[in-house]
Amino acid sequence: MREINASIPFDKKLWQHDIRASLAHVAMLADQGIVEAEDAKKIVDGLNQIAQEFEKDGVTENLDLEDIHMHVEARLSEIVGPVAGRLHTARSRNDQVATDFRLWVREAMDMADHALAALQKALVDRAEEHADTIMPGFTHLQSAQPVSLGHHLMAYYEMVRRDRSRFADARRRMNESPLGAAALAGTGFPIDRDKTASTLDFDGPTANSLDSVSDRDFALDYLMAATQCSLHLSRLAEEFVIWASQPFSFVKLPDSFSTGSSIMPQKRNPDAAELVRGHCGRIAGAMTALVITMKGLPLAYSKDMQDDKPPVFEAHDLLGLSIAAMTGMVAEVEFSGQRMRALAESGYSTATDFADWLVREAKLPFREAHHITGAVVALAEDQNCSLADLTLEQFQAIDKRIDSDVFSVLSVDASVASRSSYGGTAPDQVRVQIAKARSALGLES
Ligand code: ARG
Repeated sequence: MREINASIPFDKKLWQHDIRASLAHVAMLADQGIVEAEDAKKIVDGLNQIAQEFEKDGVTENLDLEDIHMHVEARLSEIVGPVAGRLHTARSRNDQVATDFRLWVREAMDMADHALAALQKALVDRAEEHADTIMPGFTHLQSAQPVSLGHHLMAYYEMVRRDRSRFADARRRMNESPLGAAALAGTGFPIDRDKTASTLDFDGPTANSLDSVSDRDFALDYLMAATQCSLHLSRLAEEFVIWASQPFSFVKLPDSFSTGSSIMPQKRNPDAAELVRGHCGRIAGAMTALVITMKGLPLAYSKDMQDDKPPVFEAHDLLGLSIAAMTGMVAEVEFSGQRMRALAESGYSTATDFADWLVREAKLPFREAHHITGAVVALAEDQNCSLADLTLEQFQAIDKRIDSDVFSVLSVDASVASRSSYGGTAPDQVRVQIAKARSALGLES
């Protein structure tokens, strides 16, 4: 029982939040005349001393004391004697743990937001540097149309922008204080829940005591936002894994984020990117774990809920590492613009531009244009050359309506520059989005 019951091995992470919430609670109890000012002062001094001790020596685990709340209270009794028992007036460990954990998760959300802003900055910086760098754009991982590398990087900026907004939504929704809900039904003591809420920087108290002690939506919101964020990071990581492979050679990963092989000296393995990809599985697993834990729990508190913390703590650690690793990789990776351009030029990636030209200039229906384009691509394949390398005679042998103006759309530069619709890949459009991003991030342009 001792071993299955104890949460101290993991919930000791909450010690600062537990002491902070207790300080808010006892100050309110004194203000309300529920605890004598003199006793409250002893409790406050004792709590501050415990904070110093934990800061210096860490929390010494004692499984008999079950959790962090009992550890703090037990130590407080040693320091101030029986008066320590007054701290627990008008509260229960149920509202206490709900409060502590909310404070912790709120900080985790703020940390994710902060780290993601740094990743966005790295993406925007590299996108600006490479607004004019041309790479093959893919669908089905087949060369489709040439795009700007800056545009490709800014796609990840958009994903991270949504991630940050998910964390911000979750934070706004969770910022209510459960403290004072007590065990499940509230309390008969004349407490002031608005007061403790504002001391703890919550927007106000929660409205229903049963919900207050049994709600873990804030932890689920965090885990779901973290899952989606790590999913984005793992897609970016996968791009780096592919781009760094020798057949692609689009990037050279920085030494700081790759490792050599112990037996194959030519190798530079993208370990950090692979681990970011792998961590997504563990973070999604943590999210699933808590969903399944909470599923079917009747109101109000059940001990199952003690299992809420390990998955959240794990996801937080893994997400922090993943964001930091991707930020470092984005900032330091060496892009090979030459190689990207060569592949963009080799994949008949301007075939669509050619077909569009037939529609626009030769006024053909798109289907017919598509058919002629197929014949032109087949010829180029046969000649082992790019579309721009075909001669006008060769074009006209396929269709007489083609004239020399067609060469103006066959280069990858012309193709990319022509896609100037809002949000398109034309470098000038990419720069419009970069400027917006810089101002949203509060960066100078
Ligand atoms: N260790 C518990 C947890 O983390 C604290 C709440 C215990 N409440 C109770 N009624 N046993 O959930």
